[in-house]
Amino acid sequence: MDIRNTFIQHLLVGIFALGLTYTFNTLLNVEWSTAFARVSFILLFLTLLIGPVMKLSKPIKVSSPLEIPWTWRGELGIWFFLMGLVHFIIVWSGRPFAELIKIGGSGFALANLMGLVALLLALLLTVASFQKVILYLGIESWKWLHSMTYVVFYLISGHYMYFQFFSTYGEVGPDWFGYMAVFMTLLIILLQFTAFLKIVAKNHQNRK
Ligand code: HEM
Repeated sequence: MDIRNTFIQHLLVGIFALGLTYTFNTLLNVEWSTAFARVSFILLFLTLLIGPVMKLSKPIKVSSPLEIPWTWRGELGIWFFLMGLVHFIIVWSGRPFAELIKIGGSGFALANLMGLVALLLALLLTVASFQKVILYLGIESWKWLHSMTYVVFYLISGHYMYFQFFSTYGEVGPDWFGYMAVFMTLLIILLQFTAFLKIVAKNHQNRK
């Protein structure tokens, strides 16, 4: 688990996140809102990638905290939330909220609702990522709360799939990001499942 968020790690993750957003916008001509959205998803993916990878192969010896991938989880998670928040603010600016989430509306409204629920859950998880809050909650409740990260991931997966594959947005259909994001979603499912099988196998070994 990642209990300590350091300034230097925040700085590095922040530079990576903002640099990638800038690159998407300037080099790949991706709109700002979409660029923030894509980077937010990539950060969430990295946060979730670390967990199963660590379960499958734990490093034996490390000489610095920078070598332990799980110490980056808190920073990646917080930056995922911040980038998602900026994406939402840009999408929201200049139009009434009721236009975004309209009951009896369309798939657009449902996709937005998924994004909003994910963002609110992400806010909760971000607040629960600060050392003082973690210590107040206790490790078990903190772990329970953070298992919600998977819920956030699957909500965002439904969210991007709508815009990439099921809407007229982008008229030409999915682009490179759509295919890459589907690959990332499938990889997380596969890793999660493999880590689960490993736990089952370990349980069987212990019984013998
Ligand atoms: C953590 C929260 C969120 C994340 C990570 C996220 C991520 C994404 C992603 C990956 C896309 C697809 C971009 C593409 O087509 O390449 C997208 C599109 C979109 N999202 Fe979100 N989203 C979030 C929250 C929200 C919320 C709360 C709303 C509105 C209530 C929203 C509205 C939209 C809209 C309208 C689009 C299509 C236009 C665009 O690409 O900007 N999103 N989002």
